[in-house]
Order: sequence, then C-alpha cells, then structure tokens
Amino acid sequence: MTSASARPRRVLLIVGGGIAAYKSLELVRLFSRSGVETQAILTKAGEEFVTPLSLAALTGRPVRQSLFSPDDETAMGHIELSRWADLVVVAPATAGLIAKAANGLADDLASTTLMATDKRVLMAPAMNVRMWTHPAVQANVARLKDFEGLHGVVFVGPDEGEMACGEFGPGRMAEPPSILEAALALLDGPDGRPLSGRRAVVTAGPTFEPIDPVRGLTNRSSGKQGYAVARALSDLGAEVTLVSGPVALEAPAGVRRVWVETAEQMRAAVAAALPADVAVMSAAVADWRVDGVATGKIKKAPGGAPKLSLIENPDILAETSRNGPRRPKLVVGFAAETGDLIALAKAKLSRKGCDWIVANDVSADVFGAEANAVTLIRADGSMEALDRRSKAEIARALAARIAEHFTESE
Ligand code: CTP
Repeated sequence: MTSASARPRRVLLIVGGGIAAYKSLELVRLFSRSGVETQAILTKAGEEFVTPLSLAALTGRPVRQSLFSPDDETAMGHIELSRWADLVVVAPATAGLIAKAANGLADDLASTTLMATDKRVLMAPAMNVRMWTHPAVQANVARLKDFEGLHGVVFVGPDEGEMACGEFGPGRMAEPPSILEAALALLDGPDGRPLSGRRAVVTAGPTFEPIDPVRGLTNRSSGKQGYAVARALSDLGAEVTLVSGPVALEAPAGVRRVWVETAEQMRAAVAAALPADVAVMSAAVADWRVDGVATGKIKKAPGGAPKLSLIENPDILAETSRNGPRRPKLVVGFAAETGDLIALAKAKLSRKGCDWIVANDVSADVFGAEANAVTLIRADGSMEALDRRSKAEIARALAARIAEHFTESE
C-alpha cells in the first residue's frame, strides 16, 4: 500500500543516545529509497554516537540539535517542525526519552517536539536488557501505548539478542527494515493501528502432561515465536489473549496472559478467549497424555519400568477451525516438520481446516533459537517464504499480513 498523497511522506526522526544510533543512518537510507523525506533531530547523547554531518548528508537537511538555536528556530520553529512531519520516529528510543515522553517532560528539542506533535509516534527502543525489563521502563512503555487515540505510541522491538554490553536478552533495537515496515504501516494505514478493535488469541509454548505429581511429558518449545506473535499483534492494536504453556518468558506489555499446563487446560482457555477475530496457534501441544495419572509418586520397583498408557490429546487448532459460529475469521496454525516441509504443511492445513499455516523446518536448531525461517501457506494455495530472520521479525511480518488480510477483506 502506498500513500495516495502527491507530496512525499515526511518523517521526523529523533536519534537518541545509544550504540544502536548508527543503525539510524541505515534507516534514513531505507526511508529515502521508499520515497520518504526525513528530517533528523539529534539529542545531546545521540551526538556521542553519530555525527550531525553524516545525518545531514543522508537526510539532505541540516540536523536539528538545540531548542535554543536562533537560526534554526527562525527557519522552522520546533512546533512547526513537529507538525511538518507525517510521523515521528524515535530510533533509538532510550530509557530517558521514553520516560520523558511518558511523563510529559519537555526540556530539550527532542522531548519538546514529542509533546508538541499532533502526529503518530513510533519508538524503537534500545537499551541494556536490565534497563528494558526494569518495571519503571515497562510502566512507561505501557503508559505510552495506552494514551488515547493518536497520542498512543506504537513500539517496534526491542529484539532479543546479544548486546553491545555483552549481555543477552531483549534490548537490541529492531533492525532498520522492521522499523521501516512499521513506519510505512503508520504512514499508510488508517490510523496506524490497523488491528485496533480486533481480538486475537495466541497459543504458545509446550504443554506439560503429568505422569505423577513430579514427572511429566513435555517438549522443547521455548514459546519465543508465539510470544513474539502476541506482541506484534498487540503492537498493531489488537487485544491479545496469550494462552501459554510453561515457559520462562515475560508477558509482553499490554497482552493478557493465561497460564496453562496441559492440552486440556489449553483447550479450555482458548475456548474461553473466544470470540476472536484471529487465532494463531503456535503452541507445541503434546500429542498424547497419560491415561490415569498417578496420584502419588511412582516408586522404582524391582519389576522394571512402569508401563505408561497414553491417550490422544484434543487437537486445539482443528477444533478451533471447526468451531462453527464461534470460529475466528482467520485461523493460523504452525507446522513444525522435518521432512518435505511444503507438502506436509499443506496436508496439515487441510487436515486441520485452518486458513493459513506457517511452515517451519525444525530439522535445524530452531527450538529456543533466536532466528527462524518459515513459509506462510494460505488455503488458496498462495505461498510466501520469510527467509531466515529473528523470531520477532517473523512475528511482525505475520502480524502485518494479518492486518492486511482484514483491511482487504472488509
Ligand atoms: N496443535 C494443536 N493441538 C494439538 C496439536 C497441534 O492446536 N493437539 C496445533 C499446533 O499449535 C500447530 C499445529 O497444530 O499450530 C500443528 O502442530 P504440529 O505439532 O506441527 O502437528 P501435529 O498435529 O502434532 O502433527 P504431527 O505431530 O503428526 O506433525
């Protein structure tokens, strides 16, 4: 989708201080290639990481740095500047910039502009993992997302990965192509939150099927892909219920998480989360459970190992797809395969009656990994390969396709 307006779309890019600031240069190039004009504001801290000269060269405009520059203010005052843009993008968004925006603090050019703008704001946070997970930062992020209407800030990232500081976890700035995609969705979308007013249910993680009070059957799903999908849908404005098996992940801000252990519990939690517009089933549901779970711990006995009798678990995806009037308008499954990926996934799609299936080759080390490569297959036979990229990027691409689906079908 491209904008119908004759003049180029305009982005005001606020570059905060952080090692990720160098990526904002790449972002400017991507904007320019997409026909988007960029005006940069560089914060004091940002100056420590990129030079005004390189930003000016790439944007083709003088970089704004100070609130109190008489020359700049006469050319285009900061209020005017904040109105000139069609969209404000903050990349990298530091904990400081996020805190200022969340609390209405306007004490420099960047924060004043953020208060003065009447346009959507997209933030790409980048900071140390402990800072990002600190409740103060999370509260500020939740507050910014919750502001009414156009004031609600849209977030892209941060991604998980190794950070410049040597630590590992969420905090890396989203990659420039992802920021571009989110920015274009805001520039071209109805109000930038194409899924607002939509309800989504997402399943994630493994299930745990008890054998006795201390043992159980489970699998190696980390839940990362499903959590990323929940977050990406929420970032596009959907009201998301995340039905999660046992995993060690934080619930994304703004997402309602329902903990479950067994497939039976997951089935009940999904049913309780309906009606929904879209269901994305990424959980690795155990195919079988133990018939007759022991009430006490099974003790070792000289006669050898106990025989476990297994019975089949309900297929939550198939049931949801065949749920008559309560069927979500769009049901998306995942297919984890090790053989002929596309053929097996297509067969799974029709067997389960879902609309789309995300085919995932798990012969390599996908479980718990950061990156993934998938093919999106639709019931009409169309296919789209999303080659190797982070699970967050895959989730955002999938969420964008879901948003497009609803925009096109209604
Ligand atoms: N699924 C489900 N309930 C089950 C089993 C699977 O909802 N009891 C969903 C998964 O969340 C996923 C899709 O069905 O979206 C496919 O899961 P997968 O494990 O690949 O397939 P299975 O049905 O288990 O088939 P198989 O193990 O034979 O490949």
